[in-house]
Amino acid sequence: MQIISVNDYDELSKKAYDSFVKTMNSLENPVFGLSTGSTPKGLYELLVQDYIQKNQTFHHIQTFNLDEYVGLAKEHEGSYYYYMYERFFKPLELTEEQTNVPNGLAKDFTGECEKYEQKIQNAGGIDLQFLGIGVNGHIGFNEPGTPFASRTHVVELTESTMEVNSRFFETKTEMPNKAITMGIESIMDSKEIILLVNGEHKAEALKQTVEGKVDEKFPASVLQNHPNVTIIADQPALSKLN
Ligand code: PGA
Repeated sequence: MQIISVNDYDELSKKAYDSFVKTMNSLENPVFGLSTGSTPKGLYELLVQDYIQKNQTFHHIQTFNLDEYVGLAKEHEGSYYYYMYERFFKPLELTEEQTNVPNGLAKDFTGECEKYEQKIQNAGGIDLQFLGIGVNGHIGFNEPGTPFASRTHVVELTESTMEVNSRFFETKTEMPNKAITMGIESIMDSKEIILLVNGEHKAEALKQTVEGKVDEKFPASVLQNHPNVTIIADQPALSKLN
C-alpha cells in the first residue's frame, strides 16, 4: 500500500483528480469505479471544472458505481444515481451507455447483480476504482462480516451505517435499510484502487485498514492484499497511524 499524506481536503481532491486524469489520458477506453458520499465531491467538482474549461474530454470513459439503495428510484434525491447524475453524469454530458449504477428498483435482484458483474467484465474490468471508507470499515456497502469472496449482492445495512447516512435524507424513516453493492471480490478485481480518507472521525478506520489484521470483520483490511492500492489521506485521518 502506498500512502500519500496531504494537508487538507482540497489537496486530497487535487491528488485524486491528478490520478483520474492520468488514467484517463493514458488508456484508450478507461473504466472507472466510482463512489458516492461526502469524500469524492471535490474530485467530481474538479473534473467538471475541467470539462467546462474544455481542458479534458470524457467521451471515451466508462464508469461503474459501487452501490445503490434498494427501493429508491433514480429520480429520488437520496439515490446514488441522482447524486452521480447531478454532480458528474449531467455536467460532463456522459451518455447512458457510458455510466452504470446498480438498479435499486430491479424486479429480480439476483439477475441485476449478475448483469452488473457481466457488464463490468464486458467493459474489460475496472482500471481505476475510487473508494471511500465507512467508520465501521465498510467499502462500497460491504458491511463488517461480508465474505471476502463476495460479488455484487444485496445487503442489509447496519444500524451504524443507517445512522451515519440518514443525514442525506429529510427524515430518518426515509433512510433505506438495504442496498445493492459490488462485492469485495468485485472491488479487489480492479487493476488499481485509490482509497480517499479525510477527517479525524476516519482515523481509527484508517489505522485498522493499514495496520489491523486482514479480517472479514473489518472489510477495508482486505486492501492489504491488493497489489496496487494508494491511500490518499489528510493529516487528521492519518493521526492514529504508527
Ligand atoms: P463518506 O462515506 O464519504 O460520506 O464519509 C464513505 C462511506 O461510507 O463509504
